[in-house]
This record gives sequence, structure tokens and C-alpha cells, in this order.
Amino acid sequence: MRKKVDFLVIGSGIAGLSYALKVAKFGEVLIVTKSDSDETATKYAQGGIAAVMYTPDTYEKHIEDTMIAGDYLCNMEIVKMTITESTKRIQELIDWGTQFDKNEKGDFELGREGGHSEHRVLHHKDSTGFEIERALLEKIRQHPNVEIWEKYFTVDIITQHHLRQKVNRKMDDIDCYGAYVYDPKSQITHTVLAKTTMVATGGIGNLYASTTNPKISTGDGVAMVYRAKGIINNMEFVQFHPTSLYNPKEKPAFLITEALRGFGAILKDGENLSFMNKYDKRESLAPRDIVARAIDNEMKQSGQEYVYLDCTHLNKNALIDSFPKIYAKCLSLGIDITKNKIPVLPSAHYSCGGIQVDKNATSSIQHLYASGECASTGLHGANRLASNSLLESLVFSHRASLHAQKQIENINYKEDIPDWNDEGMIHNEEMVLITQSTKELQSMMSNYVGIVRSDLRLQRALDRLSIIYRETESLFERSSLSVEICELRNLINVGYLVIKMAQKRKESIGLHFNIDYPKK
Ligand code: FAD
Ligand code: SIN
Repeated sequence: MRKKVDFLVIGSGIAGLSYALKVAKFGEVLIVTKSDSDETATKYAQGGIAAVMYTPDTYEKHIEDTMIAGDYLCNMEIVKMTITESTKRIQELIDWGTQFDKNEKGDFELGREGGHSEHRVLHHKDSTGFEIERALLEKIRQHPNVEIWEKYFTVDIITQHHLRQKVNRKMDDIDCYGAYVYDPKSQITHTVLAKTTMVATGGIGNLYASTTNPKISTGDGVAMVYRAKGIINNMEFVQFHPTSLYNPKEKPAFLITEALRGFGAILKDGENLSFMNKYDKRESLAPRDIVARAIDNEMKQSGQEYVYLDCTHLNKNALIDSFPKIYAKCLSLGIDITKNKIPVLPSAHYSCGGIQVDKNATSSIQHLYASGECASTGLHGANRLASNSLLESLVFSHRASLHAQKQIENINYKEDIPDWNDEGMIHNEEMVLITQSTKELQSMMSNYVGIVRSDLRLQRALDRLSIIYRETESLFERSSLSVEICELRNLINVGYLVIKMAQKRKESIGLHFNIDYPKK
């Protein structure tokens, strides 16, 4: 089947939905999402969304905190732009129906997280993402110009290369004309022709054995754009959240929000001693890269599989009232957080790198935008400041919408695009090969390309990856299309990018820590 739309949006998290809501005023929008519409990383966000709301906070302070967390590898212009637009974007989110917690005076109750010098995190108890996703989806579902294809999988974007004369030289430009979208139910791959395409496919957490990310986070957008020869950068900066709940059987790993440390919880070792003072003067509230490495080191030294987060000294009622989800979750596992310490360990959480975009979220491919976690905007540098991700998604989706609405009138559909060809492909009965290769990949990435790296580990990872790559490409060519094989292929592409970019960076900075290059 062929379909034509003005705006194609791949992804229904905060980045995709906030963009769709804005461009829907200017044309027809199709949102393609590979699971239930609300099954996104956005829905699981706990701590909240960082924004400058009141004094004593200032834009300058938030800018400085972002730069420090990012080890000064952030793009200063982008940092300033994002932060100074934060207050307006938050107001929009509220106008769309999102409710943030307020105190008795009616002011927003602002939380604090690692690396923030002020209380500036708006939240809805410990379920902020759930509330944002709810409000956005409610608004989207009322819009007559928006159609949602739920449980449809985007396989690849449709692109063509053109030699164009630019100033004094010929340039090879890539244009995007939409995407091939697979419906697993009917097993039909649709050709969706679009004037503009927004990639908002989220993170890459499932590249690792333990992650806080939902199952959908398999780096599909980054892999698609990489295959189409778009520019990807900063993939070596994979953020591990210091505190996911230790419960080895559970996937994804349940997050214990950093806001709990902002509330006064303290990291402790098996001897009940706080240890963060050995690593950083900001102790439990140091930026994430530092805390995750400290925990990793403590675990290696003690031989234990976790450390503890201690909340037992905090006011019981306030603790339960502010973190009801965490309280209930831990209690269901026999841990009463008002009386018992919580066993925690780091898990893969966030990709700072991705599809390179400019301040309007335009990528290196014409008519292709990227926003949210799959994009690399320059905001995070070598390490993202907590709760800056939801904000980044809003700011860049907003800017993309302004850009796209101006472009749309001058873009025509490209009619001569061939349909997806899967003739002659045999039915895939080798599910076991896909599952095993995925596990192998995740274990290899966790062991060699995790929190601490070395040149030798990275080379070993690349050697192992090339075997899995060859096997999977051969399987892909012989098999009929399935979501599982596409996701594995995407994870392999993303794994390759992480390893290659990590090998290229001959220093330890932010989230990229290589023992062969001691941190200055
Ligand atoms: P997502 O919300 O992940 O949405 C991605 C969408 O793309 C999904 O709809 C998915 O189905 C779709 N998709 C992907 N591939 C395809 C495909 N091939 N075809 C069709 N559809 C596809 N950040 C903060 O700022 N504050 C927090 O408090 C916070 N807490 C977090 C807690 C957890 C547990 C996690 C996992 C993350 C947290 N983050 C937080 C990070 C933040 O939630 C994410 O970075 C952000 O929500 C990403 O939004 P997104 O719209 O880019 O992607
Ligand atoms: C958390 O609540 O600790 C997660 C915040 C984030 O990832 O920004």
C-alpha cells in the first residue's frame, strides 16, 4: 500500500507527540509507533523536567550546570538557546494539560538532582513521564489532522542521493522522501511518501544487558539514518544511571530516581558506610558519570553485585508521599524503604549521541528532522545533566515544527519510489538465532564497552561484533521481514557506532572512561 502525508513522525514519545501537535495545524500528520502509543521511555521518566522557574535560580546557573556536567564538550550556543527557551516550553506543556506538583502557596514544588546547583526539576510525584505522555496523547487523539499507526514498525527511511552544484563545487546531497513501514499483523510493508519526516525513535538502552529503557529502545532511528549515510555523532557517550533497583530477573531494570538523592538519600556500601566522599565533594549528588563510576569501583572492590541507597533517616510520610511508585515497587519485593536500604546498581540509561542536528533539528539529510533521545543536538556534551532530556525534546521539536511548516509548501512528493521488495524471501523459522545473537551482543557490549573501557576491550568488542554482523546480515537477506530481526540489525549498527567512536576518542572525558587514557 502507498500513502501520502505532509508530515511523517516516527515515534510517539515526548519528541514525536509535541512536534506532531504543532505541525498538525499546517497539514496531515501520520505518527508511526512500533508498540502501544504510550509505550515509550517518556512514560517511564521519574525525576522530572529541568527548567528555570523562580529566583534564586537563573538561566546562567542552569547553563553553567549543564556545561559542567557535560565536561565542557557541550555546544555553548545550543545550551544557552535550550535553557533560555525552557520556561516557555514548560508553560506549553502545562497548557496542554500536564500537571506538575505544587506546594501550599501554589508554586511549583521543584526537585533537585545530581549536578544541579538549584532546585529546578518540575515533577509529578515520581511518575512525571507518565503524566506528560498522558496529557500529550490525550491532546493528539483529539486532533482531526493526526492519524496514528500503532504497532507498525519503520524499517528504513526512503532516500536518494543527488549531485548538486553548491557555490563552487558539486555536493552529494541526500534527500528523504518518507519511509518503509511494516505491519507485522498483515506482513505488508507500506511505502509512506512524506514531504518531511521526523525521526523521534528514542534511545538505545537495549544494546546492553541491563537497562532502564523499555523494550522499544533499540536505536532504530539512529541505525536507519546511519544506513542512509546521514551524519551520526557522540555515540561513545552512553550514560549509565547510577541507581537502578537490583533485581536481576527484571527487564527493564526499575529506576530509583536521582531525585531521591536530591531528597536526602545517601549511597552506602555493605558496611553501612557512605563512600561518595572518596570520589567527589558533591558526594551522592555529583553528576551521573562520576557516581556511576564510583559505584562500579565499589562493586568491583567488594565483589558485591550492588551498593545501597539509604532513605531510612528521612521523614517517613514525606518520603512515601513524594515517591509513592518507588515505595510500592520496593515493598512488592519485600523492601520497606522507610526501614530497609535499597540495593542498587548502574544500568544503561541514555544515549547522549545520535543523529547530528542543528538548532532547528534538521539533520544532514534534506527534509529529515530528528528530535529527542535519538538526536545529537550538542546540549549534553560528554554527559547529560539529569532531567535535561525531556526539556531538550520539547525545545527541538518546537524548533523543528517552525522550520518544517515553512518548508512544506515548496516540497513535492517523490512519486517514482519503488515499493519494498521482499520477493523470494523464505519464512523465518530461526527465531532462536535472533534471540541468541541479541543476548550475545548485549553481554559483549556490557563487558567491553560499559562504564569502564580500554583499547583492548574495545578492539575485542569490534572483533566479536563483526562476526555477529556478518551472521545477521546473511540471515536478514534470507528471511522474511520481522520486527525482531530488524531490531537486532539496528542494535548491531548502533553497537558498531558506539565502539568505533569510543576507539576514536583517545582521552577519558565525561561518560567515556578509558583506562589507557587517565582523566586529566
Ligand atoms: P521515547 O519516549 O522513547 O519514544 C520513542 C518512540 O519511538 C516510541 O513511540 C517507539 O515506539 C517509537 N519507535 C522507535 N523505533 C521505531 C520504529 N522502528 N518504528 C516505529 N516506531 C518506533 N529524562 C528526563 O529529562 N527526566 C527524567 O526524569 C527522566 N527519567 C527517565 C527514567 C527512565 C526509566 C528512562 C528510561 C528515561 C528517563 N529519562 C528522563 C530520559 C527520557 O525519558 C528520554 O530520553 C525521553 O523520554 C526520550 O523521548 P523520545 O520522544 O525521544 O523517545
Ligand atoms: C531520574 O529520575 O533519576 C532520571 C532523570 C533523568 O534521566 O534525567
